[in-house]
Amino acid sequence: MGFFNQASPLAASLLFASVASAQVAMYGQCGGSGFTGSTTCVSGAVCQYQNDFYSQCVEGTATSVAAGSSAVSTAQTTAFSSAAASQAPSAVVPQGNSTTLSTSIVKLSTSLSTPVAVTSVRSSSTLATSIAKVAATTSVAAVNAATSATVATVATAAAASASSAASSGTKYLMVFGDSYSSDGFWPGSETPSSEAPLGIASPGTTTDAGLNWLGVTVTELNTTVTLAFDYAEYGATTDNSLVSGATNDLIAQVTEFQTYTAHNASDIAWTSDNTMAVVWMGINDVGNSFWDHFDTPFETVLDQYFTQLQNLYDAGIRYFTLFMIPPFDQAPVFQGQTTQDMDYVRSNISTYNADLVTRLATFKSANTGVTGTVFNTSESFWTALNDPSAYNATDATCMNSDGTTCLWYDTYHPGQAIQKLVAQNFVTALTGTFF
Ligand SMILES: *[C@@H]1O[C@H](CO)[C@@H](O)[C@H](O)[C@H]1NC(C)=O
Ligand SMILES: *[C@@H]1O[C@H](CO)[C@@H](O)[C@H](O)[C@H]1NC(C)=O
Ligand SMILES: *[C@@H]1O[C@H](CO)[C@@H](O)[C@H](O)[C@H]1NC(C)=O
Ligand SMILES: *[C@@H]1O[C@H](CO)[C@@H](O)[C@H](O)[C@H]1NC(C)=O
Ligand SMILES: *[C@@H]1O[C@H](CO)[C@@H](O)[C@H](O)[C@H]1NC(C)=O
Ligand SMILES: *[C@@H]1O[C@H](CO)[C@@H](O)[C@H](O)[C@H]1NC(C)=O
Repeated sequence: MGFFNQASPLAASLLFASVASAQVAMYGQCGGSGFTGSTTCVSGAVCQYQNDFYSQCVEGTATSVAAGSSAVSTAQTTAFSSAAASQAPSAVVPQGNSTTLSTSIVKLSTSLSTPVAVTSVRSSSTLATSIAKVAATTSVAAVNAATSATVATVATAAAASASSAASSGTKYLMVFGDSYSSDGFWPGSETPSSEAPLGIASPGTTTDAGLNWLGVTVTELNTTVTLAFDYAEYGATTDNSLVSGATNDLIAQVTEFQTYTAHNASDIAWTSDNTMAVVWMGINDVGNSFWDHFDTPFETVLDQYFTQLQNLYDAGIRYFTLFMIPPFDQAPVFQGQTTQDMDYVRSNISTYNADLVTRLATFKSANTGVTGTVFNTSESFWTALNDPSAYNATDATCMNSDGTTCLWYDTYHPGQAIQKLVAQNFVTALTGTFF
């Protein structure tokens, strides 16, 4: 029994309830608790249930509705790989609006306390959605002075030999991650160029209705032609076998790099000196395990993360920037969670971020020639969250799919202002090192 069969009741309502006026763009949100927007996807896309809090338009066409059967729609999608096919939660929370969200979450937690629901939801680590669900960055108490010296902030570029890369000439960014970074690029059919540095029409399919941090970096903040190879995918985790995501995990993304890009120097002139890998992972590793009520397997997840970093090193990459998990605990979806649960989320995020710092230090000592930076994404979020009106938002928690009039695009994703701050702080942090 597959995901879609299981999910059919909700999928059906999402697909055929005629609520909408506007059509939701590819990869846009089309349902979920707290969502009040359109549930109709543009032509060529279907609204795919991801979890109780999020449904998303993905490539595909609704096929048949078999009367009297549970089979409803089969979304043919590249994003939802067979690896992630598992059961959806049987405990379906009705859709609501932001005022009903907290109630729904309470209902969900309640349902999770029953054995049957726990089983179904966990296997649905399918929940492992295409989205970045949780996160948060809090204190860095765990990071000692020595290691924190390798953490880039807005003001201080990370350590590193001022480099040969900090010069003119085309630069290459190889980006791995989740929906916070994805733009719809597919390395098998597109190649970034000076005319189209994202490889696809700008801004691509992002989760802020405009350019994301990568798009801003290569089209607005670049001081030379900078080509973005974006392997990041919606809902990605580090390793689907550890924390399931609904899409290609970091392992698969690195494989794509190896398959289409790494050995194609005749067509893609990347070198160790002009190329940097950026990894922004972890949101779904921490988030999906939180929603599914199991402890994030930090050790094995980060073992896999650095195995993939090693693969990139072995392919010739020497510049690495690892983005920390941002304070995603501030996202609207968390309104109404208990203080205890929020403490857990923040603690998990702090733990992950601190581990990233110490593990990068280890990676650097084990591999010669690495210029590695951990980029702290926290300040980029808080700059806006602490002063919403400066960014045209009425408060720090509203959301709007226009991407500009609220700090949040939807219940999980920051809008353009925060994405732009991430880009600006990233470029500032790496100026003199890579840029
Ligand atoms: C949210 O939904 C509840 C229950 O359906 C309803 O009473 C309330 O008016 C709605 N609020 C908004 C802002 O739409
Ligand atoms: C920035 O990138 C764009 C797109 O590739 C390019 O046209 C432009 O010349 C670049 N800017 C600089 C200063 O090199
Ligand atoms: C190398 O890149 C070119 C241009 O994108 C592409 O046509 C070709 O198929 C690639 N070769 C391999 C082996 O991936
Ligand atoms: C992570 O969160 C879980 C609850 O989801 C909690 O049981 C665990 O103690 C937390 N771990 C850390 C290291 O904060
Ligand atoms: C990240 O930056 C925030 C300030 O925005 C700071 O409180 C936190 O300690 C930093 N985290 C790390 C691991 O350096
Ligand atoms: C706020 O809105 C004004 C007017 O539309 C616009 O000019 C400005 O760029 C916006 N500021 C931000 C930070 O988005």
